[in-house]
Amino acid sequence: MKILVTGGLGFIGSHTVVELQNEGFEVVIIDNLSNSSEEVLKGIVAITGKTPVFEKLDLREKTSVQDFFKRHTDVASIIHFAASKAVGESVEKPLLYYENNINTLIYLLQELEQKPEAHFIFSSSCTVYGQAETMPINENAPIKPAMSPYGNTKQIGEEIITDVAKVSNINAILLRYFNPIGSHPSAEIGELPIGVPQNLVPFITQTAIGLRKELSVYGGDYPTNDGTCIRDYIHVVDLAKAHVVALQRLLNCQNVDKIETFNLGTGTGSSVLEVINAFEKVSEQKLAYKIVDRREGDITSAFANTDKASNILGWKTQSTLEEAIASAWKWEQKVRNV
Ligand code: WQD
Repeated sequence: MKILVTGGLGFIGSHTVVELQNEGFEVVIIDNLSNSSEEVLKGIVAITGKTPVFEKLDLREKTSVQDFFKRHTDVASIIHFAASKAVGESVEKPLLYYENNINTLIYLLQELEQKPEAHFIFSSSCTVYGQAETMPINENAPIKPAMSPYGNTKQIGEEIITDVAKVSNINAILLRYFNPIGSHPSAEIGELPIGVPQNLVPFITQTAIGLRKELSVYGGDYPTNDGTCIRDYIHVVDLAKAHVVALQRLLNCQNVDKIETFNLGTGTGSSVLEVINAFEKVSEQKLAYKIVDRREGDITSAFANTDKASNILGWKTQSTLEEAIASAWKWEQKVRNV
């Protein structure tokens, strides 16, 4: 049985391919290389010694998707990462996001609904909660109006999958990530942001390596202990392992409902300044940063209630914040040949 990983050369996708191969699964990757490169394939092989099938394909082309499934008739399980994910860009280019994140999802589901049995793992995000009323956030927290077209595509995607699962042979699990950071301990794969990083940890490591002058901390006047925003930073390898556990749950028919939802986080919130302090500790160097105005659209605090993932899915994170940050730093140094 082959597992299709869309966006499998991306940050979370590539780490998930490694964990799938480690568990003995045969993997087929679809990636259009819009936010990744074939070099990532070498990194995967360097870690596992196994070469996944890779097809460069744009999922926005319905006929390409149909052709793929004619050639891979034994694919009935999909882990779907392929999507555009820059919050700011989605505000400027909403149609690009609705086309790339929604149309592609529909074309994949149209193929799966023809199968006698199918399994679908969806890459969702804690962004669907907006600023939740209570911390930690559990899966029953209300879905708030999206703050960006990117966040809206995740909400709409969840609704589409839910509606389709009800009337088809598709069993699905929605995985709502908190903040993925870090890289594989081998430093063979990691986060490769194109251009100026939007996310905190790659901006920190690029500042420390000398690529960026200094980190701008977006806001020091939030109602938190130190005035900076709180997030739940989860090691990408822990996150990848959760996808394998979720897939196995569906393959073994252990799911209680045709559509299940899990928050994936550490359960611990860390402020921006705490992340900076952790970086300075693991790197043994000072980070240049300044506190500036808040970033439009940022929420104050978000961290996961991990009870459902732990008690039902049987998964919890293993890595500490410092271990995750140390892996990100090791990767940055490797990429810059330091
Ligand atoms: C974290 C904190 C910033 C950069 C987004 C998406 C989410 C997921 C992860 C895709 C915030 C602060 C950041 C910087 C800073 N994306 N920050 N200086 O916004 O929590 O989540 O990325 O799946 O869906 O919403 O992550 O890393 O951008 O920000 O001070 O240069 O770091 O204000 O408080 P975010 P982030």
